[in-house]
Amino acid sequence: MIIAVDGPAAAGKGTLSRRIAETYGFHHLDTGLTYRATAKALLDAGLPLDDERVAADVALRIDLGGLDRDVLSAHDIGEAASKIAVMPAVRRALVEAQRQFASREPGTVLDGRDIGTIVCPDAKVKFYVTASPEIRARRRYDEILGKGGEAVLEDIFDDVRKRDERDMGRADSPLRPADDAHLLDTSEMSIEAAFMAARGIIDAAMMK
Ligand code: DC
Repeated sequence: MIIAVDGPAAAGKGTLSRRIAETYGFHHLDTGLTYRATAKALLDAGLPLDDERVAADVALRIDLGGLDRDVLSAHDIGEAASKIAVMPAVRRALVEAQRQFASREPGTVLDGRDIGTIVCPDAKVKFYVTASPEIRARRRYDEILGKGGEAVLEDIFDDVRKRDERDMGRADSPLRPADDAHLLDTSEMSIEAAFMAARGIIDAAMMK
């Protein structure tokens, strides 16, 4: 059983996906980390971020077992990831690895931007998790401050808007809800409430 969770940055899809995976005993893959790991490998090796063949070569070697969320969550890695994510050859390499992961038993939860539309169009259940840019910026800001970091809310808001534009505007696999996705708008709903709604939908799909 495959559960697809898509949506823009900082909408809460990671938290939601982890809760779903824990609850049902499924494997979870944050596919954003595969783009981030590719970007980090390029940065670490001093390789360019604008050479599609080089980037695709690196993407083919990414080990899904070695993705460290803490290391990969750095802001500059996210920026670099969204640049290489526009390259079709990089996407082909990573999508192939993501599909292999998706076939694990007894089930998987994949979160990202194109899971319901491209990576796993036959997923049993699809969610599109979203929230207003203001609320997403505020959540990211609170998260950074909560970890003892420093941030300027306006800068984060600008970043969120730019990331949205890049993710939704690219030609290959732009961010958009699959036609059969369940929409979860977390602007006015806690992640807990979104999880309860998701659970009801998953339980109903499992009965079929
Ligand atoms: O969700 P994130 O911030 O970790 O994602 C990093 C970048 O990778 C983001 O700009 C969009 C891209 N990405 C993608 O293109 N497709 C996915 N399935 C997941 C992430």
